Amino acid sequence: MIVKHAKDVNGTRCDVWISDGKIRAFGVDLPVPEGEQVVDAGGLTLMPAFIDTHCHWRTPGFEYKEDIATGSAAAAAGGYTYVNLMPNTKPVCSSAEIAHEVMAKAKEVGLCDCNQTISITKNFDGKTLDHLLELPDDLRCISEDGNGVMNNAVMARAFAIATDRSLIVMSHAEDREISPWDYRLAENIETVRNCHLAQYYGTRLHMCHVSTKEAIRTIRQAQFSGARVTCEVTPHHLWFDDSRLQYRVNPPIRKADDVDALVEGIRNGTVSCIGTDHAPHTAEDKEKGAAGMVGLETAFAVCYTKLCRECGLPLEHLSALMSAGPAGVLGLTTKGLLIPGFDADLVLVDIDHMFTVHADELHSKSKNCPYDGQSLYGKVMLTLKAGKETYRSADFKG
Ligand code: DOR
Ligand code: ZN
Repeated sequence: MIVKHAKDVNGTRCDVWISDGKIRAFGVDLPVPEGEQVVDAGGLTLMPAFIDTHCHWRTPGFEYKEDIATGSAAAAAGGYTYVNLMPNTKPVCSSAEIAHEVMAKAKEVGLCDCNQTISITKNFDGKTLDHLLELPDDLRCISEDGNGVMNNAVMARAFAIATDRSLIVMSHAEDREISPWDYRLAENIETVRNCHLAQYYGTRLHMCHVSTKEAIRTIRQAQFSGARVTCEVTPHHLWFDDSRLQYRVNPPIRKADDVDALVEGIRNGTVSCIGTDHAPHTAEDKEKGAAGMVGLETAFAVCYTKLCRECGLPLEHLSALMSAGPAGVLGLTTKGLLIPGFDADLVLVDIDHMFTVHADELHSKSKNCPYDGQSLYGKVMLTLKAGKETYRSADFKG
């Protein structure tokens, strides 16, 4: 297959030639080999498909909110071909068996590959770490997402094991004894501790959904001190501040100056990726207080409208935050760039197409989407995974 008449992130004309699921060539006016299928991109913007460092598909146990098929369809419609799944499932994902089942099922669905993250403590019991000693080499990420590990000694041991076994600690920074009365302090204090542990033990640490100006500053300082710390921000912590939205999500929607600090953290390179924290919940569960929102299908448009249109961030930078950046965090060596030999995971976006979000049209099983009715720029038109079409918008005629 050859995709013709696309534009790259800088607006330069480009084509891409795909064979055997890989990028064979990328350049201007590529010749069309005889018999090759041609997709006319019609001047749309071509980028590496998106990679999400932080996603919930709810298998096992909460399939009534999302399952692997609907989660995969939502990912493809959002331009994603790879997601990193969090372990707050039922049972908690504490074993290679569960993780491998989830990953195999996603492969079978075929729309979006995934990595399944393993809980830091077994079944989130806050103390047991033995299962980390037995993890096979293909499972590298550990997280207590939805919870912080509050006991310092347990977390110190977890970091030591992670360093020893080359695991990446993905931290949902929340001290649950503090968050009921001060969620800012709850995030900040765990961020300080975890950055310190990363430095002390030389551990790879990824801070999830950073939301406060203090946490961003702590991470920046840790990076300057040589700690192996990366971080993500979510589209919703960039888009909303607490004067614009009252919606339950963890960490909560913050103040306008926190949002400014996140944008600054993106500009100065502290932030290496966007993580959606796609968190599907039914209307009933939301009414009962469940935290979170779906995010896969709106992530690019929200980030593009906010960061590029409003704040003037170059599209090239946003593209990196959604592909090469997360690929680096997750250690994916053949994804995230448009270069020969890399996986042909691609997305075509119409950056000038303004559209209105309709929650009831989302592919996700859950419709907890606070962008409902919002107009955004940057519509995903086509997603290709290993050269195969996984999503095509009804608006795309190529
Ligand atoms: O709001 C959230 N929802 N934050 C999290 O960290 C977890 C997520 C969920 O699983 O629903
Ligand atoms: Zn979280």
